[in-house]
Amino acid sequence: MDEYILGIESSCDDTSAAVLRGTCVLSNVIAGQKVHEKYGGVVPELASRAHQQNIIPVIDTALKDAKIDKKQLSAIAFTRGPGLLGSLLVGTSFAKAFALTLDIPMVEVDHMNAHILVHFATDADHDEVPDFPFLCLTVSGGHTQIVVVKDYFDMEVIGQTIDDAAGEAFDKTAKILGLPYPGGPVIDKMAKIGNPDAFSFARPNIPGLNYSFSGLKTSILYTVRDHLRDNPKFIEENVADLCASVQKTIIEILMNKLVKAAKQTGISTVAIAGGVSANSGLHDAMRAAAEKYKWRIFIPRLSYSTDNAAMVAVAGYFKYLKGDFASQDLTPYARQSLNV
Ligand code: KG4
Ligand code: ZN
Repeated sequence: MDEYILGIESSCDDTSAAVLRGTCVLSNVIAGQKVHEKYGGVVPELASRAHQQNIIPVIDTALKDAKIDKKQLSAIAFTRGPGLLGSLLVGTSFAKAFALTLDIPMVEVDHMNAHILVHFATDADHDEVPDFPFLCLTVSGGHTQIVVVKDYFDMEVIGQTIDDAAGEAFDKTAKILGLPYPGGPVIDKMAKIGNPDAFSFARPNIPGLNYSFSGLKTSILYTVRDHLRDNPKFIEENVADLCASVQKTIIEILMNKLVKAAKQTGISTVAIAGGVSANSGLHDAMRAAAEKYKWRIFIPRLSYSTDNAAMVAVAGYFKYLKGDFASQDLTPYARQSLNV
Protein backbone atom coordinates (compact mmCIF):
# COMPACT_ATOMS: atom_id res chain seq x y z
CA MET A 1 0.00 0.00 0.00
CA ASP A 2 1.21 3.49 -0.83
CA GLU A 3 1.98 5.66 2.17
CA TYR A 4 1.23 9.33 1.72
CA ILE A 5 2.87 11.70 4.21
CA LEU A 6 1.98 15.37 4.61
CA GLY A 7 4.91 17.47 5.86
CA ILE A 8 4.45 20.86 7.53
CA GLU A 9 7.29 23.35 8.12
CA SER A 10 6.79 26.62 10.02
CA SER A 11 9.93 27.07 12.12
CA CYS A 12 11.00 30.51 10.85
CA ASP A 13 9.65 32.70 8.05
CA ASP A 14 8.62 30.16 5.42
CA THR A 15 5.27 28.37 5.57
CA SER A 16 5.62 25.14 3.66
CA ALA A 17 3.64 21.95 3.03
CA ALA A 18 4.64 18.91 1.00
CA VAL A 19 3.09 15.58 0.10
CA LEU A 20 5.27 12.52 -0.42
CA ARG A 21 4.44 8.99 -1.53
CA GLY A 22 7.11 7.10 0.37
CA THR A 23 10.22 9.18 -0.32
CA CYS A 24 8.89 10.48 -3.64
CA VAL A 25 7.98 14.18 -3.57
CA LEU A 26 4.58 14.80 -5.16
CA SER A 27 4.35 18.45 -4.10
CA ASN A 28 6.41 20.98 -2.14
CA VAL A 29 4.73 24.36 -1.68
CA ILE A 30 6.63 27.21 -0.01
CA ALA A 31 5.17 30.60 0.95
CA GLY A 32 7.84 33.11 1.94
CA GLN A 33 7.12 36.21 4.02
CA LYS A 34 8.08 39.51 2.39
CA VAL A 35 6.96 41.42 5.48
CA HIS A 36 10.40 41.02 7.16
CA GLU A 37 12.44 42.55 4.34
CA LYS A 38 12.18 46.13 5.52
CA TYR A 39 13.21 45.21 9.08
CA GLY A 40 16.49 43.58 7.99
CA GLY A 41 15.62 40.33 9.81
CA VAL A 42 12.73 38.12 10.89
CA VAL A 43 10.25 39.75 13.29
CA PRO A 44 8.89 36.78 15.31
CA GLU A 45 5.44 38.23 15.99
CA LEU A 46 4.87 39.06 12.32
CA ALA A 47 6.18 35.62 11.31
CA SER A 48 3.63 33.73 13.41
CA ARG A 49 0.79 35.90 12.13
CA ALA A 50 1.83 35.30 8.52
CA HIS A 51 2.03 31.54 9.18
CA GLN A 52 -1.57 31.64 10.45
CA GLN A 53 -2.67 33.32 7.22
CA ASN A 54 -0.64 31.03 4.95
CA ILE A 55 -0.96 27.59 6.47
CA ILE A 56 -4.39 26.54 5.19
CA PRO A 57 -3.90 27.73 1.57
CA VAL A 58 -0.40 26.22 1.49
CA ILE A 59 -1.61 22.80 2.70
CA ASP A 60 -4.59 22.94 0.38
CA THR A 61 -2.31 23.67 -2.61
CA ALA A 62 0.13 20.91 -1.60
CA LEU A 63 -2.71 18.35 -1.56
CA LYS A 64 -4.07 19.62 -4.89
CA ASP A 65 -0.61 19.64 -6.55
CA ALA A 66 -0.09 16.06 -5.35
CA LYS A 67 -3.52 15.15 -6.75
CA ILE A 68 -4.58 13.35 -3.61
CA ASP A 69 -7.43 13.74 -1.16
CA LYS A 70 -6.66 14.40 2.51
CA LYS A 71 -8.37 11.11 3.36
CA GLN A 72 -5.56 9.25 1.58
CA LEU A 73 -2.91 10.61 3.99
CA SER A 74 -1.20 8.02 6.21
CA ALA A 75 0.46 10.47 8.62
CA ILE A 76 1.30 14.11 9.24
CA ALA A 77 4.91 15.12 9.89
CA PHE A 78 5.65 18.54 11.36
CA THR A 79 8.67 20.50 12.57
CA ARG A 80 8.70 20.54 16.36
CA GLY A 81 11.88 22.64 16.65
CA PRO A 82 14.32 24.31 16.79
CA GLY A 83 12.99 27.66 15.64
CA LEU A 84 10.76 30.56 16.67
CA LEU A 85 8.27 29.34 19.25
CA GLY A 86 5.32 31.36 17.94
CA SER A 87 5.95 30.14 14.40
CA LEU A 88 6.43 26.51 15.48
CA LEU A 89 3.16 26.67 17.44
CA VAL A 90 1.19 27.41 14.26
CA GLY A 91 2.48 24.29 12.44
CA THR A 92 2.33 22.09 15.54
CA SER A 93 -1.24 23.10 16.43
CA PHE A 94 -2.40 22.62 12.86
CA ALA A 95 -0.76 19.19 12.67
CA LYS A 96 -2.43 18.11 15.92
CA ALA A 97 -5.89 19.27 14.84
CA PHE A 98 -5.57 17.78 11.35
CA ALA A 99 -4.28 14.43 12.68
CA LEU A 100 -7.17 14.26 15.15
CA THR A 101 -9.73 15.08 12.48
CA LEU A 102 -8.35 12.53 10.03
CA ASP A 103 -7.66 9.99 12.79
CA ILE A 104 -4.10 9.35 11.57
CA PRO A 105 -0.77 9.43 13.44
CA MET A 106 1.51 12.44 13.52
CA VAL A 107 5.29 12.43 13.56
CA GLU A 108 7.50 15.13 15.09
CA VAL A 109 10.59 16.14 13.15
CA ASP A 110 13.74 18.02 14.16
CA HIS A 111 14.41 20.84 11.70
CA MET A 112 18.18 20.28 11.43
CA ASN A 113 17.72 16.54 11.09
CA ALA A 114 15.26 17.22 8.28
CA HIS A 115 17.69 19.51 6.41
CA ILE A 116 20.10 16.55 6.27
CA LEU A 117 17.51 13.88 5.41
CA VAL A 118 16.28 15.90 2.40
CA HIS A 119 19.03 14.07 0.52
CA PHE A 120 16.74 11.01 0.63
CA ALA A 121 13.87 12.80 -1.11
CA THR A 122 13.41 11.40 -4.59
CA ASP A 123 11.28 12.23 -7.61
CA ALA A 124 10.76 11.18 -11.22
CA ASP A 125 14.16 12.47 -12.38
CA HIS A 126 16.19 12.15 -9.20
CA ASP A 127 16.68 8.95 -7.24
CA GLU A 128 20.37 9.01 -6.25
CA VAL A 129 20.78 9.04 -2.46
CA PRO A 130 23.88 8.95 -0.23
CA ASP A 131 25.20 5.79 1.45
CA PHE A 132 25.88 5.75 5.20
CA PRO A 133 28.06 6.99 6.72
CA PHE A 134 28.34 10.38 5.07
CA LEU A 135 29.41 13.82 6.23
CA CYS A 136 26.98 16.71 6.07
CA LEU A 137 27.88 20.38 6.35
CA THR A 138 24.62 21.87 7.63
CA VAL A 139 24.65 25.62 7.12
CA SER A 140 21.60 27.77 7.76
CA GLY A 141 20.56 31.03 9.36
CA GLY A 142 20.83 29.53 12.83
CA HIS A 143 23.27 26.61 12.50
CA THR A 144 26.68 25.67 11.16
CA GLN A 145 27.52 22.06 11.87
CA ILE A 146 29.61 19.22 10.49
CA VAL A 147 27.62 16.05 11.11
CA VAL A 148 28.59 12.40 10.71
CA VAL A 149 25.39 10.79 9.46
CA LYS A 150 25.60 7.12 10.44
CA ASP A 151 21.95 6.32 9.86
CA TYR A 152 18.66 8.19 9.41
CA PHE A 153 18.47 8.89 13.13
CA ASP A 154 22.01 8.24 14.26
CA MET A 155 23.94 11.46 13.74
CA GLU A 156 26.95 12.93 15.51
CA VAL A 157 27.88 16.60 15.44
CA ILE A 158 31.70 16.71 15.20
CA GLY A 159 32.07 20.45 14.62
CA GLN A 160 29.91 23.55 15.03
CA THR A 161 30.03 27.28 15.30
CA ILE A 162 30.93 28.78 18.64
CA ASP A 163 29.16 32.06 17.80
CA ASP A 164 27.39 33.20 14.59
CA ALA A 165 26.07 30.80 11.96
CA ALA A 166 27.29 31.01 8.34
CA GLY A 167 23.87 32.29 7.24
CA GLU A 168 24.09 35.03 9.86
CA ALA A 169 27.47 36.04 8.42
CA PHE A 170 25.75 36.53 5.04
CA ASP A 171 22.76 38.31 6.58
CA LYS A 172 24.85 40.63 8.79
CA THR A 173 27.14 41.50 5.86
CA ALA A 174 24.08 42.44 3.81
CA LYS A 175 22.89 44.66 6.65
CA ILE A 176 26.28 46.42 6.82
CA LEU A 177 26.17 46.96 3.05
CA GLY A 178 22.56 48.20 3.12
CA LEU A 179 21.32 45.17 1.14
CA PRO A 180 17.94 43.52 1.89
CA TYR A 181 17.22 40.50 4.12
CA PRO A 182 17.93 37.63 3.65
CA GLY A 183 21.46 38.52 2.66
CA GLY A 184 22.62 35.18 1.24
CA PRO A 185 20.79 35.20 -2.10
CA VAL A 186 21.64 38.90 -2.79
CA ILE A 187 25.32 38.46 -1.93
CA ASP A 188 25.45 35.29 -4.05
CA LYS A 189 24.08 37.27 -7.03
CA MET A 190 26.34 40.31 -6.58
CA ALA A 191 29.39 38.08 -6.00
CA LYS A 192 29.07 36.75 -9.56
CA ILE A 193 30.07 40.16 -10.98
CA GLY A 194 32.65 41.10 -8.32
CA ASN A 195 36.34 40.44 -7.73
CA PRO A 196 36.74 37.92 -4.86
CA ASP A 197 40.32 39.07 -4.25
CA ALA A 198 39.53 42.79 -3.97
CA PHE A 199 39.36 42.78 -0.16
CA SER A 200 40.71 40.48 2.49
CA PHE A 201 39.11 39.91 5.87
CA ALA A 202 40.21 38.36 9.16
CA ARG A 203 39.90 34.59 9.32
CA PRO A 204 39.18 32.71 12.55
CA ASN A 205 41.82 30.61 14.20
CA ILE A 206 39.71 28.04 16.03
CA PRO A 207 41.15 24.62 16.87
CA GLY A 208 39.56 21.35 15.79
CA LEU A 209 36.48 21.25 13.64
CA ASN A 210 34.59 24.18 15.16
CA TYR A 211 33.74 27.41 13.38
CA SER A 212 33.56 31.08 14.32
CA PHE A 213 32.08 33.89 12.24
CA SER A 214 31.81 36.80 14.67
CA GLY A 215 35.36 38.06 13.97
CA LEU A 216 34.65 38.14 10.24
CA LYS A 217 31.61 40.34 10.82
CA THR A 218 33.72 42.80 12.87
CA SER A 219 36.44 42.76 10.21
CA ILE A 220 33.89 43.62 7.48
CA LEU A 221 32.38 46.35 9.65
CA TYR A 222 35.79 47.98 10.28
CA THR A 223 36.88 47.72 6.62
CA VAL A 224 33.69 49.43 5.47
CA ARG A 225 33.83 52.07 8.23
CA ASP A 226 37.48 52.96 7.47
CA HIS A 227 36.90 53.29 3.71
CA LEU A 228 33.73 55.32 4.21
CA ARG A 229 35.77 57.98 6.04
CA ASP A 230 37.72 58.72 2.82
CA ASN A 231 34.96 57.97 0.35
CA PRO A 232 31.28 58.29 1.30
CA LYS A 233 30.38 56.39 -1.89
CA PHE A 234 32.68 53.46 -0.98
CA ILE A 235 29.88 50.91 -0.59
CA GLU A 236 27.99 51.72 -3.79
CA GLU A 237 31.21 51.83 -5.82
CA ASN A 238 32.52 48.52 -4.43
CA VAL A 239 29.44 46.52 -3.52
CA ALA A 240 30.04 43.66 -5.97
CA ASP A 241 33.72 43.31 -4.97
CA LEU A 242 32.77 43.41 -1.27
CA CYS A 243 30.14 40.69 -1.78
CA ALA A 244 32.54 38.52 -3.80
CA SER A 245 35.32 38.91 -1.21
CA VAL A 246 33.05 38.18 1.76
CA GLN A 247 31.52 35.16 0.03
CA LYS A 248 34.94 33.79 -0.87
CA THR A 249 36.07 34.15 2.77
CA ILE A 250 32.97 32.43 4.21
CA ILE A 251 33.30 29.56 1.73
CA GLU A 252 37.00 29.09 2.45
CA ILE A 253 36.30 28.97 6.20
CA LEU A 254 33.52 26.40 5.66
CA MET A 255 35.50 24.22 3.25
CA ASN A 256 38.73 24.17 5.28
CA LYS A 257 37.06 22.44 8.21
CA LEU A 258 34.98 20.19 5.99
CA VAL A 259 38.12 18.93 4.24
CA LYS A 260 39.74 18.43 7.65
CA ALA A 261 36.68 16.47 8.86
CA ALA A 262 36.76 14.23 5.78
CA LYS A 263 40.46 13.52 6.36
CA GLN A 264 39.97 12.83 10.07
CA THR A 265 36.99 10.51 9.66
CA GLY A 266 38.09 8.90 6.39
CA ILE A 267 34.57 9.51 5.02
CA SER A 268 34.42 10.49 1.35
CA THR A 269 30.69 10.89 0.78
CA VAL A 270 30.04 14.54 1.56
CA ALA A 271 26.77 16.49 1.49
CA ILE A 272 25.72 20.06 2.19
CA ALA A 273 22.33 21.15 3.54
CA GLY A 274 20.46 24.20 4.86
CA GLY A 275 19.82 27.65 3.39
CA VAL A 276 23.49 28.50 2.74
CA SER A 277 23.83 25.27 0.73
CA ALA A 278 21.97 27.20 -2.00
CA ASN A 279 25.11 29.30 -2.52
CA SER A 280 26.57 28.96 -6.02
CA GLY A 281 30.12 29.64 -4.81
CA LEU A 282 29.78 26.84 -2.25
CA HIS A 283 28.56 24.53 -5.04
CA ASP A 284 31.70 25.34 -7.06
CA ALA A 285 33.92 24.76 -4.01
CA MET A 286 32.25 21.39 -3.35
CA ARG A 287 32.74 20.34 -6.99
CA ALA A 288 36.40 21.35 -6.85
CA ALA A 289 36.87 19.39 -3.58
CA ALA A 290 35.11 16.36 -5.09
CA GLU A 291 37.59 16.42 -7.95
CA LYS A 292 40.62 16.97 -5.73
CA TYR A 293 39.78 14.55 -2.89
CA LYS A 294 37.70 12.03 -4.89
CA TRP A 295 34.55 12.76 -2.89
CA ARG A 296 31.06 11.66 -3.85
CA ILE A 297 29.09 14.84 -3.24
CA PHE A 298 25.42 15.67 -2.65
CA ILE A 299 24.16 19.21 -3.23
CA PRO A 300 20.44 19.79 -2.65
CA ARG A 301 18.41 21.54 -5.34
CA LEU A 302 17.43 25.11 -4.49
CA SER A 303 13.92 24.35 -3.19
CA TYR A 304 15.40 21.70 -0.85
CA SER A 305 18.21 23.95 0.47
CA THR A 306 16.23 26.70 2.15
CA ASP A 307 13.38 25.83 4.49
CA ASN A 308 10.87 23.46 2.91
CA ALA A 309 8.38 20.79 3.94
CA ALA A 310 9.65 18.03 1.61
CA MET A 311 12.54 17.58 4.05
CA VAL A 312 10.09 17.36 6.97
CA ALA A 313 7.93 14.82 5.18
CA VAL A 314 10.88 12.59 4.22
CA ALA A 315 12.28 12.64 7.78
CA GLY A 316 8.73 11.97 9.01
CA TYR A 317 8.37 9.05 6.62
CA PHE A 318 11.39 7.24 8.11
CA LYS A 319 10.02 7.79 11.62
CA TYR A 320 6.59 6.64 10.48
CA LEU A 321 8.13 3.38 9.24
CA LYS A 322 9.57 2.85 12.75
CA GLY A 323 6.16 3.55 14.32
CA ASP A 324 7.70 6.51 16.15
CA PHE A 325 4.57 8.65 16.57
CA ALA A 326 4.11 11.92 18.46
CA SER A 327 1.61 12.44 21.24
CA GLN A 328 -1.10 15.11 21.18
CA ASP A 329 0.27 16.79 24.32
CA LEU A 330 3.74 17.69 23.03
CA THR A 331 4.89 21.30 22.75
CA PRO A 332 7.46 22.81 20.36
CA TYR A 333 11.05 23.54 21.40
CA ALA A 334 12.95 26.68 20.42
CA ARG A 335 16.47 25.41 20.94
CA GLN A 336 17.90 21.96 20.86
CA SER A 337 20.92 20.58 19.14
CA LEU A 338 20.38 17.77 16.68
CA ASN A 339 17.56 15.69 18.12
CA VAL A 340 17.73 12.18 16.75
O1 KG4 B 1 17.70 26.93 6.19
P1 KG4 B 1 17.20 28.31 6.07
O2 KG4 B 1 16.22 28.62 4.95
O3 KG4 B 1 16.51 28.78 7.39
C1 KG4 B 1 17.05 28.45 8.65
O4 KG4 B 1 16.80 27.32 9.10
O5 KG4 B 1 17.78 29.31 9.17
O6 KG4 B 1 18.47 29.27 5.94
C2 KG4 B 1 18.35 30.64 5.82
C3 KG4 B 1 19.73 31.23 5.61
C4 KG4 B 1 19.74 32.76 5.61
O7 KG4 B 1 20.78 33.17 6.47
C5 KG4 B 1 20.04 33.11 4.16
O8 KG4 B 1 20.78 34.33 4.01
C6 KG4 B 1 20.87 31.93 3.73
O9 KG4 B 1 20.24 30.81 4.34
N1 KG4 B 1 20.87 31.74 2.27
C7 KG4 B 1 21.98 31.82 1.51
C8 KG4 B 1 21.57 31.66 0.16
N2 KG4 B 1 20.21 31.45 0.15
C9 KG4 B 1 19.80 31.50 1.45
N3 KG4 B 1 23.26 32.05 1.85
C10 KG4 B 1 24.17 32.11 0.85
N4 KG4 B 1 23.85 31.98 -0.45
C11 KG4 B 1 22.58 31.75 -0.85
N5 KG4 B 1 22.29 31.61 -2.15
ZN1 ZN C 1 16.39 25.73 8.04
